[in-house]
Amino acid sequence: MLPSRSRIIGWGFEVPRTTVTNDDLASIVDTSDAWVHKRTGIRERRYVDDAEGSVPLAERSVLRALATAGVDLGDVDAVICGTLSPDVDFPGNATLIHERLGIEACTVFDVRNQCSGFLYGLSVADQLVRTGAARHVLVVGSEVHSSGLDFEGGRGRDVTVLFGDGAGAVVVGPGDDQYGLLAAHLHADGRFAEKLAVIGPAHRRKPRVDTSVAPPESAWIYPIMEGRLVFKHAVEGMTQAVKNVVADAGLTVADIDMLLPHQANLRINQLVAMGLDIGDDRMANNIDRYGNTTAATIPILLTETMEAGRIKEGDLVCMAAFGAGFTWGAALYRW
Ligand code: ACO
Repeated sequence: MLPSRSRIIGWGFEVPRTTVTNDDLASIVDTSDAWVHKRTGIRERRYVDDAEGSVPLAERSVLRALATAGVDLGDVDAVICGTLSPDVDFPGNATLIHERLGIEACTVFDVRNQCSGFLYGLSVADQLVRTGAARHVLVVGSEVHSSGLDFEGGRGRDVTVLFGDGAGAVVVGPGDDQYGLLAAHLHADGRFAEKLAVIGPAHRRKPRVDTSVAPPESAWIYPIMEGRLVFKHAVEGMTQAVKNVVADAGLTVADIDMLLPHQANLRINQLVAMGLDIGDDRMANNIDRYGNTTAATIPILLTETMEAGRIKEGDLVCMAAFGAGFTWGAALYRW
């Protein structure tokens, strides 16, 4: 019989050992600890050593998630990887993870949805499990930003200070009527595609639209961002997505035991929590230690929150994310 729900049955994360504080960054970029901490809540982030890519980080997080789940590699039916920093342009990271772990033939693909990539992956994993196409799905978020940021003086400082490297993974397996994914809402608005983007390297020569934030051609390889616009839409998008997903499940925001928001800016999350009337006791954040690890923020945060004993069986757990695209969404679990 097909399972009525999918459930997260394992979790794990991996961050590089090297910690880069705001003061460390201020010695190479025109910024300060006071500016970064006040505007974002970030104190430090992790950077990989020796040009390690996002696939080795992913591999180690996957092995931890499988161990928590008690699932063998041979029982993995699909690998979904959310990343904006794949180790090679193509094929996708999921293929490379598949190769490194020596997984048997299974379905593998990448999700190119940046900060919401993990939630998009979870939703697809849910559908694979509920339709019987897969029994165990690895959903991974894995990023190495440090090799793709602009460290030249003040040019890209608004973006450079935000990001860190890291990976997180979960194992999605069969749930039941009582436990598992209750609802997921995914959204996108491509009109904002070049408000937060890396224009190149790409298979075209010029930005598609004449955007005022477009950098000179030499800087196309670095992220561009209209920070204030992203900030405003992130607060609105995540707040609404959480309201919609609980309503869809016939519940209310007051029923949420733990909110796990994407970690882009602590002030964004504080405004979302204020709009939902959720206090610190019902929300987790770790951006102070890792910065924004894009697709990896939620699985890293989930693992830390589980390990801290802040999520118990039966809890209502809501995850929400917003990022480039714009794409955003929320997922609601009965744990
Ligand atoms: N250090 C010091 N000063 C800085 C820095 C820095 N790192 N960055 C910008 N400034 C300066 C600006 O030059 C500006 O100076 P001016 O007033 O002399 O012109 C001043 O600080 C204010 O800049 P703003 O951009 O208006 O600052 P803001 O308060 O908006 O904060 C921030 C910027 C932190 C980027 C904020 O807009 C933000 O967090 N936006 C959302 C980011 C986000 O969520 N991204 C999505 C996820 S990423 C993804 O999906 C891939």
